[in-house]
Amino acid sequence: MELQVYKFGNEKHLPIVFIHGFPLEYKMWSHQFRYLQNENHCISYDIRGLGESSAGDGQFTVELFVDDLFEILDKHEIPNPILCGLSMGGYIALRAMVRHQNRFRGLILCDTRSEADNNDAKLKRAVAIQKINKQGLENYIDEFIPNCFFSKTKSEKSGIIRETVEKAKKFDPIGVKGCLLAMAGRMDCTHFLGNIVVPTLLLCGEHDTLTTPDMMENIAHKIPNSEFTTVPNAGHLAPLENPEYVNRSIENFLRKNFYQSQINQ
Ligand code: MLT
Repeated sequence: MELQVYKFGNEKHLPIVFIHGFPLEYKMWSHQFRYLQNENHCISYDIRGLGESSAGDGQFTVELFVDDLFEILDKHEIPNPILCGLSMGGYIALRAMVRHQNRFRGLILCDTRSEADNNDAKLKRAVAIQKINKQGLENYIDEFIPNCFFSKTKSEKSGIIRETVEKAKKFDPIGVKGCLLAMAGRMDCTHFLGNIVVPTLLLCGEHDTLTTPDMMENIAHKIPNSEFTTVPNAGHLAPLENPEYVNRSIENFLRKNFYQSQINQ
């Protein structure tokens, strides 16, 4: 299956692969592409079943999502990139690290967790799938996406939420349900955190209630060469809610760890 891949900036520059969250598409990283593309090569794609990437039969696993990522790296000859994932994108990034850490030179994790779903979380996925089946995707999206945002984003930047909701309502329900099943069946990556040797940045919206700052700080404690930052005025979708802060944090991390060595290593 052909996945939609998007590239911004000069391919000779430092490559960063951005993986979006659920149920979103590559454009959730638009602010980061705009800010970082002068000095970096930003690559992203729509995960199978979301955005412009077709859903096929919807039989997804996170392992399949990682296979897709490796296929993109091979096909587009992306040399040893930094991997940046938000939430479900973070689940994919962490599994990719477990499977093949030496394909990456750095890691950025936003609003994500390392644990697999517990029983409660699995039940919530089952309820979500039932809701989509019985009431339609639009109802599910109307309920799920606004909950990801900080209350101040809801009152002061409601346009972002409207736009995100409207886009997601157009996705193929088979793709959205396939992602829910993939997340419910994913593996726990916590055991591997202590083995991550590449420089790692962890970012978490100060008001993220889905993957909380405490949870992410805990991940940071387990990854040896890591730094952790909370993003003010943001919930679960920090790169969209406070892009200025996220952009500067990523830029500082890149300057500190990568700009001396640059690419093609
Ligand atoms: C996401 O933002 O990718 C999802 O909320 C993650 C999840 O549902 O576990």
